[in-house]
Amino acid sequence: MMKFLILLSFFAVIYAREIRPNCLIIRNRSYEKEVLKVDIKSPYQLSIDYDTNTLFFSYTARKEEMFQIAYLSLKTNEYGVVSGIHGGFATAVDAKHSIVYMGGEDGIYKFHYQNKTATNLNIRNNVNIWQMFFKDGLYFTTYPEETAFLYKKKKVDVVPEFVNIKTMLIAVNKDGNMVYANSSGLFVYNKLRMTTSLLDTAVVNGITADIDGNLYFSTPTGVYYINEVTNEVDELFKMENIYGVAVEGNGDIIYATEDSIIRLKPTKEECYYDQKWLSNESI
Ligand SMILES: *[C@@H]1O[C@H](CO)[C@@H](O)[C@H](O)[C@H]1NC(C)=O
Ligand SMILES: *[C@@H]1O[C@H](CO)[C@@H](O)[C@H](O)[C@H]1NC(C)=O
Ligand SMILES: *[C@@H]1O[C@H](CO)[C@@H](O)[C@H](O)[C@H]1NC(C)=O
Repeated sequence: MMKFLILLSFFAVIYAREIRPNCLIIRNRSYEKEVLKVDIKSPYQLSIDYDTNTLFFSYTARKEEMFQIAYLSLKTNEYGVVSGIHGGFATAVDAKHSIVYMGGEDGIYKFHYQNKTATNLNIRNNVNIWQMFFKDGLYFTTYPEETAFLYKKKKVDVVPEFVNIKTMLIAVNKDGNMVYANSSGLFVYNKLRMTTSLLDTAVVNGITADIDGNLYFSTPTGVYYINEVTNEVDELFKMENIYGVAVEGNGDIIYATEDSIIRLKPTKEECYYDQKWLSNESI
């Protein structure tokens, strides 16, 4: 009897809130990670053609250490590499006219679904394109100049507001205000008031719009939503090694890590569960 009592005193009940692996909480909802593609080196610049439910992104081809653009069907998981582009890095979709634009080392290309190739549109062959965004015209930035251009009505011009401002990434919100990132941070330019406000000082590596035109961005450590009314930045989730983000037609978030593409699907299961166990490690 004595021995039993002594033993008991060495046990402790431990409670812990554990998060299930592959589960993530965003705005108090549980999401499950679904890996869509693995073994892809440095996927950047994600965009979605909502018409065909196809994701486009750039990656680094291992053999030549060169940028290439790949497509991934979000319906069937069909995956492939787009051929015909020199150093493809950027993509953008003109949803109204069903045109998928791609940017390479030598200008702007147009993608053909029939044969998964892209042809140079010979608009500006002397620019190396870093990023693209479509909203009533094709916005694109160049590298290493970091200049923002707009291709509209068959004409290409430097975006007038950014003649003397370096721009790595550019997007346009629902009100037509430009959101852009450079080495100083992430900014929004209000075209009516002609004022610029700082949104964030983080290093932004991707900007995207959902099907309704709401803007999201990624940094190496998280994914964020930009409230276009208040210009507040909402953290959706934090994580290491984020390379880019896109939002599906149904609102599911897709993000890239250093070597994979992952979808976050809403789940009814709770991410957290309470664990309870006896421990005798208190000695
Ligand atoms: C999430 O839940 C917490 C605790 O219940 C609550 O305080 C918070 O307002 C909720 N946040 C959102 C975005 O719903
Ligand atoms: C792919 O298809 C497009 C459109 O039909 C065509 O213009 C292009 O030449 C084709 N490219 C190849 C390599 O077959
Ligand atoms: C980045 O943009 C901000 C806001 O327009 C500007 O003040 C800053 O000079 C820009 N940085 C560079 C390196 O051009």
